[in-house]
Amino acid sequence: MPNPLENRHIALGVTGSIACYKSVDLASKLTQAGALVDVLMTPEATKFLAPLTFRSITHRPVITDIFAPESELSINHVAVAERADVVIVAPATANTIAKLAHGLADDPVTTTVLATRAPVIVAPAMDANMYENAATQQNVAALQGRGYIIAGPASGRLASGLIGLGRMLETPDLLGCIKVVLGRDGDLANRKVVVSAGGTQEPIDPVRVIANHSTGKMGYALAEAARDRGADVSLVTTPTALEDPYGVNVIKVRTALEMRSALLHQCSNADALIMAAAVADWRPTETADHKLKKGDSDTWSIDLVKNPDILAEISGEGLIKVGFAAESEDLIANAQSKLVSKGLHLIVANNITAPDSGFGTDTNRVTLVDREGRTTELPLLTKYEVGHEILDRVAKVLA
Ligand code: PMT
Repeated sequence: MPNPLENRHIALGVTGSIACYKSVDLASKLTQAGALVDVLMTPEATKFLAPLTFRSITHRPVITDIFAPESELSINHVAVAERADVVIVAPATANTIAKLAHGLADDPVTTTVLATRAPVIVAPAMDANMYENAATQQNVAALQGRGYIIAGPASGRLASGLIGLGRMLETPDLLGCIKVVLGRDGDLANRKVVVSAGGTQEPIDPVRVIANHSTGKMGYALAEAARDRGADVSLVTTPTALEDPYGVNVIKVRTALEMRSALLHQCSNADALIMAAAVADWRPTETADHKLKKGDSDTWSIDLVKNPDILAEISGEGLIKVGFAAESEDLIANAQSKLVSKGLHLIVANNITAPDSGFGTDTNRVTLVDREGRTTELPLLTKYEVGHEILDRVAKVLA
């Protein structure tokens, strides 16, 4: 399932908050990803944004009035509610949340939520005082108690100019939340998958580190793919420029030793460990506690000590282990020998010589090598698609 949003019906309820400008981006990203987005707007939302904005983006009618003759809801007011795979109310004002909590249905958004059997996501957006008010908190708790997913709000600058809790989540998080909901009965549901990402940093002194070119993209894509198939995902990662994926338990580390202890802890109850991280094989024997001075010498050497081989060391009853091998020569032979020495089920031989593959790219060229000796060379794929290819194999072994 390389694209969890393709041809899925998403009902997007937009209510009267300035945050509805962000819903335009959400509708756009959902549509670009192949989803069929039905937008429903409250009368207050139409004061912030013209329905034409959403219609131009989704290429579908926008429902603004339950009684309008041309409204699909006026013919069958549950049509959108019935065909939705997910209903998301974003932004959800305090007023709409209160109406939902009390089962009111007097506009297209509340009517659809009341009429649907699909999972409902509510993304609050309001002033911090309104959100923290006991009335709103009780309404939110009531919705949660009924199984609604409350996505956010985040803390930050609010329309009032104040800083506080009440900002609607950003598009990547809302997309992530929709994918979590769509994938919750996937083939990795009730499975724990641990993924490592990024390049470890081994400190020489407070300024310098031994590092490598890994950006974390491969590991993050894998974590998102596992999440989208219903897995409970822990991502052990070194510092990267990437945003934490929604719905993933992110554990930040720097060195190989820190990664080792985080992974040992996470794997104690895991079903699979997939290591996309580029772990330094060596670290400085000592880390200076002050910045080392250049001195007069033209050369400088550092004593190194071997890091533990994390993947070889970790084992567990029924734990599926997948490794990566970034190679610039003898790709398959080197990968095969790592598969054996680390006791893996599968190794992903990663060609790092092509410009569209390996470190920092959004795509990858890999060959999967399994413990039965089978090799499968995959075409150029996005890292997210590579993630799914790996997870197809993991899910098969787990099944
Ligand atoms: O992060 P990106 O920019 O997207 O780049 C992705 C990537 C190129 C880093 C990734 O696709 C990749 O190939 N990762 C493996 C890097 C590597 O070469 O690993 P290795 O051959 O040194 O180690 C083999 C396996 O053992 C790896 O799964 C590694 O995580 C693991 N290992 C290595 C050393 C060590 N001390 N402990 C380990 O567990």
